[in-house]
Amino acid sequence: MYDRKKSKLISPLKRTLVGFLAVSKQIRDGSDILLYMRTGKTFLYRVRRGAVFHTHKGFLKMDRIIGHSFGSYLRSSTGYLFTALQPRPIDYALHLPRIGQIVYPPNMGLIAVYTGLRPGYVVVEGGTGSGALTIFLASLVQPDGKVYTYEVRPDVQAVAQRNVRRAGIPEETVVFKLADITKGIEERDVDLVVLDIPNPWDAIPHAYEALTPGGFFACVLPTINQVERCVEQLRNAGFVAVEAVECLVRTYDVKPGATRPRTRMIGHSAYLVFARKAGVGVVEAS
Ligand SMILES: C[S@@+](CC[C@H](N)C(=O)[O-])C[C@H]1O[C@@H](n2cnc3c(N)ncnc32)[C@H](O)[C@@H]1O
Repeated sequence: MYDRKKSKLISPLKRTLVGFLAVSKQIRDGSDILLYMRTGKTFLYRVRRGAVFHTHKGFLKMDRIIGHSFGSYLRSSTGYLFTALQPRPIDYALHLPRIGQIVYPPNMGLIAVYTGLRPGYVVVEGGTGSGALTIFLASLVQPDGKVYTYEVRPDVQAVAQRNVRRAGIPEETVVFKLADITKGIEERDVDLVVLDIPNPWDAIPHAYEALTPGGFFACVLPTINQVERCVEQLRNAGFVAVEAVECLVRTYDVKPGATRPRTRMIGHSAYLVFARKAGVGVVEAS
């Protein structure tokens, strides 16, 4: 059975280790680097002693990189300058194998802001998919928070498990559950339930049961019809502060004297619905 108190326990050693990894500025044997090209193209690569990374712009010897700081320029065999950046959680989500649609990164940002997501949160997610959102959630709730993530397809769950581990998320931060979230949520006293499944309304009564009073609900929906149905169900179930939002990001091509929006943009990714659990009692306040 889930025990929130136990989930808060974290050894001083682990806390030191997590902090150490997070602030490491030096590339080591086993570090992940994001190789950045001037064109904006990036490669996610794990540095290994003796390894050589081959690109269309020449090769890079990893032995030469170890011991230098993130942010260093790396000159390839053809003279091309790459930059070795420290990957963000979202870089793992974008570069690792995926099955199906992942949550669009700007929407992840909105989920964090609208739900106050922070270290120590207990989060229930359904469905896991490729684990892109799981990586993002886990990176914010660690070191002492938890993400319980529900998925119905074992093959998809296996991909997500590999991706989450590859992103360096501590094993104890994410609990993978092979279960249908519309049939029930086992956890209690949860801070956030976030759903990215086709029929979230079927999980709303379970989300209400699982959430702590005032806890947050968030939902990712591709169509406006789903938004209407979801909002209606949330209002009936005792949620308040129900909001539906959409995020459009416009990128700019910046050139002296010719700065303008990029011609192509993502016109639609998903709608987001947020709500908070209320109705757990009435206080006569007059
Ligand atoms: C769009 S994907 C989720 C993508 C994920 N948010 C990401 O960023 O990588 C939806 C996933 O939900 C799973 N799913 C659908 N219905 C479900 C349910 N009732 N319970 C648990 N998982 C479910 C599907 O198998 C699919 O893998």
